[in-house]
Amino acid sequence: MDVRIGLIGCGVMGADHAAILRAGVAGARLAAVQDADGKRARALAETLGTVAVMDEAAALIASPEVDAVLIAAPDPAHAPLVLACIAAGKPVLCEKPLADTVEGCRGVVAAEMKSGGRLVQVGFMRRFDAGYHAMRQAVERESLGAPLMLHCVHRNKVAPDYITSAQVIANSGVHEMDIARYLLAEDFAAVTVISARPSRLMPNRQPQMILLESARGVVVSVEVTPDAQYGYDVRGELVCESGTISLAPAPPVALRQAGLDGFAVEEDWRTRFGEAYRAQMVAWVHAVRGGQPAGASAWDGYMASRTAAAALEAWQAGGRVVMAPESRPDFYAV
Ligand SMILES: NC(=O)c1ccc[n+]([C@@H]2O[C@H](COP(=O)([O-])OP(=O)(O)OC[C@H]3O[C@@H](n4cnc5c(N)ncnc54)[C@H](O)[C@@H]3O)[C@@H](O)[C@H]2O)c1
Repeated sequence: MDVRIGLIGCGVMGADHAAILRAGVAGARLAAVQDADGKRARALAETLGTVAVMDEAAALIASPEVDAVLIAAPDPAHAPLVLACIAAGKPVLCEKPLADTVEGCRGVVAAEMKSGGRLVQVGFMRRFDAGYHAMRQAVERESLGAPLMLHCVHRNKVAPDYITSAQVIANSGVHEMDIARYLLAEDFAAVTVISARPSRLMPNRQPQMILLESARGVVVSVEVTPDAQYGYDVRGELVCESGTISLAPAPPVALRQAGLDGFAVEEDWRTRFGEAYRAQMVAWVHAVRGGQPAGASAWDGYMASRTAAAALEAWQAGGRVVMAPESRPDFYAV
């Protein structure tokens, strides 16, 4: 029997996840969709063939026709929906962040632990990217010695108008906070944020430089530029004792044209991380069907949001914020 998936939120990311399922993920099919805007849900359903359209998220989660839930609604809706999935005993893949507050993340962690089983995966899809996977293996095997520094660059072509400097840190920067913690396999102990002057093309928000210090002294630089203009560009270079390992440009071909030699730059995250989104879905379905939990857990989601909150505090106060160590509960050991 296929896992019957119910999708909540049919915007950009919801449609993208639906397209992955429509293209075929072994052992799963999209069974139902729901959106606060019923027209959006119906419009998406029309492109998908046989899927039910539900009026309410609660009805989708409770439906006997839905085995597992995919949440792609906006951030403030995440925690209440994930809690409803846990209460219904249904596995859930929730887009990042796990919740829009640290307290919200803590609430999800507490509810999942109380339920007695792992039900929650957070959509930090970069954990499924082949380049980051190779970097993580280099750390695990110490093939370049121990890590010393990690440089991360996250540039959007043009972020939506409503994105604020705080969201540049907490919403875009949180991807880097999760992937850096995943690559280094350790938590962060301190964070500092320095804002660049705003671009004259987008005076309402500032590019940010976030400096993270890991518990064992690895330093991570994170540049987040919301309006780079030329494309979506994510870079990473891990500096180790005897060499470095970097993400290579994703395109399979190089272009020479009009006096230039190089690689096309991606438009946005959906193409740059297309393979990672698909691999994330495959791993989630495998876990739902009884395999090992995969990807970012609720604990990882909590730690990412906690780091983002500390970064916001550092940005507002203009200094270095120290984060108290926290032990991962045994429940999240796998
Ligand atoms: N993993 C990634 O790389 C990545 C990239 C972009 C966005 N995201 C996350 O995905 C989520 C969705 O982002 P998006 O860009 O698709 O947004 P979007 O605005 O395009 O879509 C959100 C949809 O949810 C609907 N909605 C609003 N409130 C709802 C509710 N309470 N219940 C059900 N539906 C509701 C809206 O009508 C809209 O159709 C956000 O949490 C965002 O942070 C993740």
